[in-house]
Amino acid sequence: METTTKTKINQLSEYDGQTVTLSGWVYNTRVSGKIAFVILRDGTGMCQCVFEKSDELTEVFDEVKKLSQESSVEITGIVNKEERSVGGYEMKATGINVVHGSSDYPITPKPHGIEFLMKHRHLWFRSKRQWHIMRIRSTVIDQIRRFFNDDSFILVDSPIFAPAAGEGAQTLFKVDYFGEEVYLAQTGQLYLEAACMAHGKVYCFGPTFRAEKSKTRRHLTEFWMVEPEIAYASLSDVMDVAENFICSIAERVLRDHREELIELGRDIADLEAIKRPFVRLTYDQAVDILHSDKSKTLLENDLKEKTARIEELAKNIVEFEEIAKGGGKQWKKDKAAADAIAAREERSELEEQIKNIPHHMELAANFEWGSDLGGSDETIISRLHDRPVCVTHYPRGVKAFYMRQDRKNEKVVECFDMLAPQGFGEIIGGSAREEDYDRLVARMKQEHLPQEDYEWYLDLRRYGSVPHGGFGLGVERTLAWLCGLKHIREAIPYPRMMGKFYP
Ligand code: 4AD
Repeated sequence: METTTKTKINQLSEYDGQTVTLSGWVYNTRVSGKIAFVILRDGTGMCQCVFEKSDELTEVFDEVKKLSQESSVEITGIVNKEERSVGGYEMKATGINVVHGSSDYPITPKPHGIEFLMKHRHLWFRSKRQWHIMRIRSTVIDQIRRFFNDDSFILVDSPIFAPAAGEGAQTLFKVDYFGEEVYLAQTGQLYLEAACMAHGKVYCFGPTFRAEKSKTRRHLTEFWMVEPEIAYASLSDVMDVAENFICSIAERVLRDHREELIELGRDIADLEAIKRPFVRLTYDQAVDILHSDKSKTLLENDLKEKTARIEELAKNIVEFEEIAKGGGKQWKKDKAAADAIAAREERSELEEQIKNIPHHMELAANFEWGSDLGGSDETIISRLHDRPVCVTHYPRGVKAFYMRQDRKNEKVVECFDMLAPQGFGEIIGGSAREEDYDRLVARMKQEHLPQEDYEWYLDLRRYGSVPHGGFGLGVERTLAWLCGLKHIREAIPYPRMMGKFYP
């Protein structure tokens, strides 16, 4: 193959009419008579490379016909503007160099079950949908850093090996540390509180670990959290930062990934609505909502709509299966078989969901003051709003020991959970911190926390204690919301969940 300028698919506009070489992998091929189409992906995008059989290209054409999915190849050809093509450019290919073959690639264009895809996560990355999600993740992380760096926050990394619990003791992962027991960090917050007394505004950003024994669509055992901490800040100051922060992430993702979001099926208008002011509700008001007719009607309608959809899917499945078994064209049969699998998956998901609706209605109607909001309660509240909602002032007993007691109502703490709209639920948890030594020690006693493990933390209340606060945002939950993912497992490169740690 002749040597030409090497370029990337996302740079093709600079080479219109010129001969270039692209290096990538075969996403798909289609041969129709004397024309072969190869969809090439190179990490920056996809490009259709068109090979026409001619006397000079017979050998090349024969090689292209044998190409299998995910073979690594270099393709040379002339770049052509083509509005209808993915990425707006095509290549009239003249040469190919197969770098490495790939036989029986496990992830074919047909639908696969989630268990199978998760086991092949290392290859699943190459699929279009996963490719989009990881690129958006990268942007979200970049925006997180930019937001805090641009606002003069100082990055202070917190340790992963922690000698004591930062959040609830029930979700600690124990590690044998040369014969002593330490834990994987559940939060960097306590360390950041120390750092904010040195720098004023700080943040940490890293992996966090929680031994979550539940298998929900919102829980990972290892997830990434960014935590800012601000000295001389009230709860309302901290919420202002959190709201601006979320707006900046939503704006950036819309600016840089509009097309990808559309491909992922995300309703862009939902994200465009992410503007301040957000809704702020107290816990008491949230409880009133749960007890209201609004919640009941929401779930009743849900039940009706989902039941109707299940009936519709049952009919569709029969139709698809008839086409798949019938005597039509092969591609039509294949498509119908794939549609039947997708419809069956949707049906079983909906069946699972409607099973839970009566239970969720009961939980909401009988919700008692003093309990924590559960996943289904958060879903109800967030579905009743079209922009994020901050729920503030939870009962003391359901929140972490470090949260500041409300001086006007000592039964509650000055905290907030930010719930993403349309049912996505909590993406941020934060609070003002208890700055008073005596109150903090009393609270630690109630929680049976060994004071000796926290002496260093108590020093912050001995030497120049000030009102301060901060929050933690979970990257994966935020990404799941922004991309409209039903399950958090697609929002992290290698998900870790109860019973899942391969590959
Ligand atoms: O509400 P959480 O537990 O807050 C803290 O850890 C505080 N120390 C933060 C702070 O004030 N500095 O967790 C914060 C966020 C949640 O809102 C959620 O987005 C995410 O972390 N999160 C999880 N994400 C995935 N899987 C889990 N098991 C998560 N637990 C929390």
